[in-house]
Amino acid sequence: MLSHAVTPGALRDAMGHFATGVTVITALDSSRRPVGTTANAVTSLSLDPPLILVCFARESLTLAHVHDHGAFAVNVLAAHHRDASSAFARRGNADAWGLVDHRPGHTGSPRVHDAVAVLDCTVDDRLAGGDHEIVIGRVVDVETAGGSPLIYHRGAYASLERA
Ligand SMILES: Cc1cc2nc3c(=O)[nH]c(=O)nc-3n(C[C@H](O)[C@H](O)[C@H](O)COP(=O)(O)O)c2cc1C
Repeated sequence: MLSHAVTPGALRDAMGHFATGVTVITALDSSRRPVGTTANAVTSLSLDPPLILVCFARESLTLAHVHDHGAFAVNVLAAHHRDASSAFARRGNADAWGLVDHRPGHTGSPRVHDAVAVLDCTVDDRLAGGDHEIVIGRVVDVETAGGSPLIYHRGAYASLERA
């Protein structure tokens, strides 16, 4: 094991060993156009009441739209969504919507076609978290399709190999 000073790079690298799924968090802007961003800092929080949380960089454009809309959808991406994930990781990401089909969900937030699961949420609370903001969502509707999820590990995409 190598020990490092806790620089932002060392923290990002250490946390990169924690393999995650990949989501696109979607909402609507004030003109009701779809917006979204790639996020893997997504965690279940409570079953009763049904709560999840998403950590957004404070400067995220999507974060501002989530607060204005008062709701968001967590779209759990499928293994074939790599290009879409990369496109939604670009700030503003208008081009990304050309890569996925979508339809409005329960809260109006777009649901990505072929997502392995979608959780539709209303904004329940927001908490400061250093240079990020923790948004707690109350889950008002869920949809699951199953299939192979997209995985993110040490800065690269992967998919699950099932026996
Ligand atoms: C795999 C992956 C996971 C990411 N996870 C997060 C995250 O959890 N929270 C976040 O704020 N940004 C995350 N990002 C970065 C945002 O997608 C990126 O900063 C984006 O440009 C923000 O767009 P926006 O400003 O239009 O919201 C992630 C990027 C990738 C590729």
